[in-house]
Amino acid sequence: MVSMSVFDLSGNGKSPLTSPCQLLGNSTLFGMPVWIKRDDLLHPVVSGNKFRKLKYPLLAIAKHCTETGRIPTLVTMGGIWSNHLHATAYVAAESGYKSIGLVRGNVAMNSAMLEDCRAQGMQIQFVERDTYRALRDIPHYWQNIVASGSDQFWFPEGGSDPAALHGVAELIAELPFIPDTILVACGTAATLAGLLAGLQGRSRVVGIAVLKNADYLHGEIARLLQEAGYPAHQNYQLITDFHHGGYAKVTPELRQFCHDFTEQSQVPIEPVYTGKVFYALRELIKSGYFQSDEKLVVLHTGGLQGARGMR
Ligand SMILES: Cc1ncc(COP(=O)(O)O)c(C=O)c1O
Repeated sequence: MVSMSVFDLSGNGKSPLTSPCQLLGNSTLFGMPVWIKRDDLLHPVVSGNKFRKLKYPLLAIAKHCTETGRIPTLVTMGGIWSNHLHATAYVAAESGYKSIGLVRGNVAMNSAMLEDCRAQGMQIQFVERDTYRALRDIPHYWQNIVASGSDQFWFPEGGSDPAALHGVAELIAELPFIPDTILVACGTAATLAGLLAGLQGRSRVVGIAVLKNADYLHGEIARLLQEAGYPAHQNYQLITDFHHGGYAKVTPELRQFCHDFTEQSQVPIEPVYTGKVFYALRELIKSGYFQSDEKLVVLHTGGLQGARGMR
């Protein structure tokens, strides 16, 4: 059991947690200097972009709690290896909140991630594929699925609420310098949008889509920035050809790459998100995509618990 508090929900929202930005030790890996913002080290459970994305939505809920004196229920969705469900179950338990996870699948399914969530008190409710899609696409649809109650708060898939961008934006101020380029994995692209918000038009962000047919993410980035109250920043590129077959699909080559990279760099990565980013980085460097003197930071978005599903 981890006792470190993730957010100070009762105080000013300041967290004791920050992460280092490290120069990748073994420069022979990529042939150019690469910095890694190690958000995987933020917290043993609520790490990476989960920490960043949950912060402001949770602070708003905590304020509501203080004002009303009632206990909230966090309601959210994800797959059976979802990093977001895992982190949400943890922060809910730590804060004394209830939590409900709507999980794509059926009661015959299980995973170490689901067991962790249940151990934290999260109520797991399975939904079939069409319902899951509707939860993703139709605002407030979750209210048709979850038994109604008071003080229920919805977090969309991946925790990608517009308010999630504010927490991601904060990490820019933790960097030791403003890089030319930040490389990041894109699922919903909320993390990428948060980086754009924090950069305020400077530099560029290169997003590596981890799912197939990801061009629609351009629209999502614009929507999230707008709904979170930021300008329509365009200083990013979305690269859509390193998905390795689709979301959570892994080729033997990618698996080998993750293994070799972790061994040589001593930086753990997994094949669903960060593995695809570092693999893309290697290929992009080979193809001359970056200037040799470009100041490059890769955001390590954590998610290492999910690797348990890939073994
Ligand atoms: C470890 C990890 N990295 C990257 C992402 C992608 O983040 P986003 O959905 O904000 O694009 C996720 C999903 O939230 C994730 O769990």
